[in-house]
Amino acid sequence: MPTKLAFLRDRILGAAVLGSALSGCCETRFVTAEACLTLEPGELECPTFEEAEERLAIDDIVSSAVYPEREYRVGDRTYVAPTECCYTHESTVDECDAPRGFGRPLVIGGRSVRATLAPGGGWSRAARAAQQGAPRRHDPARAAAWRERGLLEHAAVASFTRFTLELLALGAPASLVRAAQRASLEETAHAELCFALATGYDGREVGPGPLAVTGAALELPSRSELARRLVHEGCVEETLGVVELIDLASREAEIPARRALERLARDEIRHAALGFAALGWLASNDRSGAVRAGIDEALRRAETRMGSASGSAAVWREVVAPIARAVLS
Ligand SMILES: [Fe+2]
Ligand SMILES: [Fe+2]
Repeated sequence: MPTKLAFLRDRILGAAVLGSALSGCCETRFVTAEACLTLEPGELECPTFEEAEERLAIDDIVSSAVYPEREYRVGDRTYVAPTECCYTHESTVDECDAPRGFGRPLVIGGRSVRATLAPGGGWSRAARAAQQGAPRRHDPARAAAWRERGLLEHAAVASFTRFTLELLALGAPASLVRAAQRASLEETAHAELCFALATGYDGREVGPGPLAVTGAALELPSRSELARRLVHEGCVEETLGVVELIDLASREAEIPARRALERLARDEIRHAALGFAALGWLASNDRSGAVRAGIDEALRRAETRMGSASGSAAVWREVVAPIARAVLS
């Protein structure tokens, strides 16, 4: 196993030379999210968009919704007032700086799930205090991009937590369970790092709100189902994440941001290696052949998907396919 992991690490590190294949794909993209306010006692109406932007530390609210209304009395009059006001807001991010599918996604019911932003310093304050040379200039676009990345890292914490349960349920060895738990802790640190950097760029204390994990671990998958998911979530997405991080770090001019990207890349290399190692373990304990059939089908799909995209075809050919062959041989 150590030889195989070392081999995996080296191969994924080799993706650094492919970084340039992903450059030149920048585009500005709108991101929408919802943030909610619980009304104070005596507040009868939802705050205006301007007030809500101030209280929720967000910009560009485009719509609002009111959640359960309640009746209450003042003197002899009865009022109906909302209990919670939710606002949909927009921001733009540079697609190069906030890539989709960055690292291990949390997929529930076929959908990639993540939290929305909420005010509070619980995910930024400690990391910010520990950060050396934190950014000080005002740059809201960069703050938004780092928060977007922070939400993906936050979702990855849950993804690895679920993965740990799945490994335990399927009788995996301690080395894999330990690596999954370590990865979950590393994703926690990644999320903190991202939110702390964002605070450095706009001074706002904002972090992830509640994560809708309902359904994440209610039904433990079969070995072949887990193997199929591993190909996508662990092997393909984590490897693409590493390649993107290495490319972003090489083009990042600001030292705190570059250090953060390099730290993320170092850890994500291990996460990708864990995905492949777990795949190898599942395949090596496959008596019926169902696991191998599931893996082969998932790899064929990945090849079709990655092979048709200009940035990922080389990653498939040079990194994912050779590693998959090595762990499955
Ligand atoms: Fe990761
Ligand atoms: Fe991460």
